[in-house]
Amino acid sequence: MHDILEQLEAKRELARLGGGQKRIDAQHKRGKLTARERIEVLLDEGTFEEWDMFVEHRCVDFGMADNKIPGDGVVTGYGMINGRLVFVYSQDFTVFGGALSEAHAEKICKVMDQAMKVGAPVIGLNDSGGARIQEGVASLGGYADVFQRNVMASGVIPQISMIMGPSAGGAVYSPAMTDFIFMVKDSSYMFVTGPEVVKTVTHEDVTAEELGGAVSHSTKSGVCDLAFENDVEALQMLRRLYNYLPLSNREKAPIRRSGDPADRLDKSLDTLIPDNPNKPYDMKELIVKTVDDGDFFEIQPEYAKNIIIGFGRMDGQTVGIVANQPMVLAGCLDIKSSIKAARFVRFCDAFNIPVITFVDVPGFMPGTAQEYGGIIKHGAKLLYAYAECTVPKITVITRKAYGGAYDVMSSKHLRGDVNIAWPNAEIAVMGAKGAVEIIFREEKGHPEKLAAKEAEYKARFANPFVAGARGFIDDVILPNETRKRICRSLAMLKDKKLENPWRKHGNIPL
Ligand code: HXC
Repeated sequence: MHDILEQLEAKRELARLGGGQKRIDAQHKRGKLTARERIEVLLDEGTFEEWDMFVEHRCVDFGMADNKIPGDGVVTGYGMINGRLVFVYSQDFTVFGGALSEAHAEKICKVMDQAMKVGAPVIGLNDSGGARIQEGVASLGGYADVFQRNVMASGVIPQISMIMGPSAGGAVYSPAMTDFIFMVKDSSYMFVTGPEVVKTVTHEDVTAEELGGAVSHSTKSGVCDLAFENDVEALQMLRRLYNYLPLSNREKAPIRRSGDPADRLDKSLDTLIPDNPNKPYDMKELIVKTVDDGDFFEIQPEYAKNIIIGFGRMDGQTVGIVANQPMVLAGCLDIKSSIKAARFVRFCDAFNIPVITFVDVPGFMPGTAQEYGGIIKHGAKLLYAYAECTVPKITVITRKAYGGAYDVMSSKHLRGDVNIAWPNAEIAVMGAKGAVEIIFREEKGHPEKLAAKEAEYKARFANPFVAGARGFIDDVILPNETRKRICRSLAMLKDKKLENPWRKHGNIPL
C-alpha cells in the first residue's frame, strides 16, 4: 500500500511539473503564470478538484510514444468562484506548447459535458500552439468536438474565454463561440493566419501584436471584450464578471444587496442634460449614478464607444445596461454599435438578466460606408434582439429618440415593459431643423419663415407628451428619481412571464 501511495504521489508530482522547471521558468520570464497558477488565482482557495491528471496522449508518430507527460497539456476540473460552482480548463504551454491533442480535447469535452449536466459555467484559459502537429487529423477532430459543445452550450450555460498566450488558426473559433473573451496585453494574440502568411498573401508587414493582440481586438475588431495588463489582473476581473452571472439559463443571477437604498434620489441628474440639444454629455455619469454603489462593469469599453454596454446591479439584482453615448458620434447607431449591443441583449435574454436601456439617439449613421457595409442588415440585428427578448425591459429616454432608432431602442412597440422619459425628451421622426427643411422645402430662401416653422415644430413635437398621449411611454419622470423608478419597476417585473412562439430557431439577419 505504501508503495502505491508513493507511486501516486510521484505521478502527481510529475503532472504538476508539466513540461519541467526550465519551461516553467521561461513562462514566468514572459510575465505569464503557469496553467496551475492561473487556476489558483481564478478559484477560491482550496476549492479546485482536478480531473484527468493521468491522461496521456496516444500518439506514436515522430517519437511521441516515449514523450508523454501526464495531463497532456491541459489542466481540467471544477471549483468555486465566491462560493459558486464553475468548471475550468487551463492549457499548459509548458507541455508541447499547450497544443491540442485528441486526449487533450477529450479532457476539455469531459468538463464541458459535466457542466451542461449540472448547469454551471465553463471558463477556458487558453494558451496553446494550436493543433498538436504530430497528431494531425486526430487533433482537428478534437477541435471540432469542442466546437460542437460550444454551440450546444451557447445560451444554456455561460462560457467565458481568457486568451493568455497564442490562439491561432482554427483554434480561435472555440473562444469566438463563447460569450465573453478577455485577453492579456503583450502576451496573448488571436488570428486566423499569422504575420508570415499575411505577408505572403497580402504583402502587409504586421507584427503578431498588431495583427491579433489584445489592443487590436479590443479596439479595432471587437473580438475581445476586455484587455488587461497581466494575468493576475485579468483573472481577478474575470472573478468580478462571474459574480454578475447566473449559473445557467435555468437560474437567475445571484442577488447581492448593498447598502445603497433602492429609493435613493440624485439631484445632480436634474442638470445632466445641457440646455443646447446639440451639446453632448456623458451617459456614463447617469449609469454610474443609477446602479448600486456606482459599480458598473463595462464590456467592450474601447470598441464602438457610441454605445455603452455592461452589467450593474439594481437593489442587488443583476441588470444588463445598454445606453447611447452622446459623447461619441452623437450617440448614433452604426454597424459596430448595433452588433455590439445586439449580442449583449441576446446574452442577457438567454440568461434571465433584465435589460435597462438609456436612450439618447439621433438616428442611424448616414453615408456610403455604412450603407455598403450593410447597416440595414446589422442595424436589424439590434432590432431583432430587442424584439425577441422576453426578460424584463425598462427604457428611459433621456433626450433624443428619433426615427427608426426610437423604435429599435427597446421601445414600447418591441414589448418594452416600462418605458419612461425625462421631461426634456424629444420623441419624433427627426430633429426640428431637418424636419422643417423637408416639409417646407419651398421656403428655402426665407430663413426667418423656416425659423418660425422650426420653433413651431419643436413646440409641437420636441417633447415626450405626444408619445405619452398615445401610451408609447408610461410616464414622464424627474431625472433625479430614475433609480427609484427603475428599482420599483424591476420589483414589479420580478415574476414576468412571456414566451415567443415555438420554432426551431429564428433567422436573425446575420
Ligand atoms: C506540437 C508544439 C506546437 C504544436 C508548439 N509546440 N506548437 N508542439 N504542436 N502545434 C511545442 C514546440 O515544439 C516547443 O516544444 C514548445 O511547444 C514551445 O514552442 P516554441 O516554438 O519554443 O515557443 P514560442 O517560441 O513561444 O512559439 C510559440 C508558437 C510556435 C508561436 C505557438 O511554437 C508555433 O508557431 N507553433 C506552431 C503553431 C502552429 O502552426 N499550430 C498549428 C496551427 S493550425 P519544446 O519541446 O521545444 O519545448 C491549427 C488548426 C486548428 O491549430 C484547427 C482547428 C479547426
